Amino acid sequence: MNILLLGSGGREHALAWKMVQSPLLTRLYIAPGNAGTAGMGINLSLSVTDFPAVKEAVLSHHIGMVVVGPEDPLVMGIRDYFLSDPEVLHVPVIGPAKQGAMLEGSKDFAKQFMIKYGIPTARYQTFIKNTLTDGIAFLGKLDAPYVLKADGLAAGKGVVICHSVEEATAELTAMLRDERFGAASESVVIEEFLHGIELSAFAITDGISYKILPEAKDYKRIGESDTGPNTGGMGSVSPVPFAGKAFMEKVETQVIRRTMEGLKAEGIHYTGFLFFGLMNVKGNPFVIEYNCRMGDPETESVVPRITSDLVALLQAVANGTLAAETITTDPRFATTVMLVSEGYPDAYEKGKLISGEEAVVGSMVFHAGTRMEKDEVLTNGGRVMALTSFGETMQEALATSYLNVQKITFEGKCYRRDIGFDL
Ligand code: AMP
Ligand code: GLY
Repeated sequence: MNILLLGSGGREHALAWKMVQSPLLTRLYIAPGNAGTAGMGINLSLSVTDFPAVKEAVLSHHIGMVVVGPEDPLVMGIRDYFLSDPEVLHVPVIGPAKQGAMLEGSKDFAKQFMIKYGIPTARYQTFIKNTLTDGIAFLGKLDAPYVLKADGLAAGKGVVICHSVEEATAELTAMLRDERFGAASESVVIEEFLHGIELSAFAITDGISYKILPEAKDYKRIGESDTGPNTGGMGSVSPVPFAGKAFMEKVETQVIRRTMEGLKAEGIHYTGFLFFGLMNVKGNPFVIEYNCRMGDPETESVVPRITSDLVALLQAVANGTLAAETITTDPRFATTVMLVSEGYPDAYEKGKLISGEEAVVGSMVFHAGTRMEKDEVLTNGGRVMALTSFGETMQEALATSYLNVQKITFEGKCYRRDIGFDL
């Protein structure tokens, strides 16, 4: 079978790397891909949200399955688009339809869903422009810090944590009245701050049954010791040592199972990946957010640990036969260190020559923001490359990633030296 994978980050390179190991795959196409995915199959230059172009590619390359990496096409309804078009109706799209993707696309929808189905989450209220004064009054009833979330997709920037009521009032006003995040902040969720340690859990579902994938911890802040602004993610570790059997059982019974049952009760036929952003509060899981896709850079440490055939799993998702599959995993630690461009997550330069990849030994190199020009690999984004290594211990895996980090060079290369510091 030919597969079309949508996306262009480290997550997609890791998914591509895994899929090409499957005997079920004939040819892999990636759109738009990066310099790394070019080595896994054929990159197609098209936008993941240009659905007619995706359909055209599916027909001309005899694609049997579309795997969606990022959230944008899902929230915009790529699956619905395929289901409504007789010419591509037979081609399964791995990822939820628009209604299911609302778990990520609308924070207010996600919160209402969690409350309705008894899924542990922070207490909250949602406000709009007309209820701004009520929102300000609500802030007065909470203790600092304050968590403000733009309802819609805001490229990972829509969550603001404020340390004083004055700052929170100004931020809420900017979001609601001044449309700081455009349409995404027409509604704003204000929620209680949860004190704990974060981790990411993942499931895959065919809408009937589900399987749990290895969990991971992501390092979102740019600076060491988790300081400075949020990024897309600077590194990841899987498994997560504090997510022991008892904790993961709570995650399954209180979060994953209730979510799956809630989706069924709502009549939402959810298929694909589901990502649970969790806070471990004194041994109890609380949901911070849902994502309708895999995480990045979590995928770069989770997917290498899956020893079963990913294409077979995805086919089972498409066929509704996931219950019959078993997912096997490598018990070792996988750690990922992300190399980023100087200045990221603010302004940064692109087009810097990358060298040294051929000298890497013992790590997997997953490209994120890279592109090929003639025979050269150039930087093409804030997050440039991920180095993933295995080890019997987290420290051993990290040592290999950090050794190989030294071999890759490009102007302005930055990375966090403390991935796993809190574990
Ligand atoms: P999100 O985009 O929802 O993942 O939020 C971004 C980050 O804000 C999360 O990774 C957390 O670090 C933080 N955050 C979100 N909600 C809360 C909360 N209720 N309590 C504490 N931190 C939070
Ligand atoms: N690493 C967090 C995310 O993918 O949203």
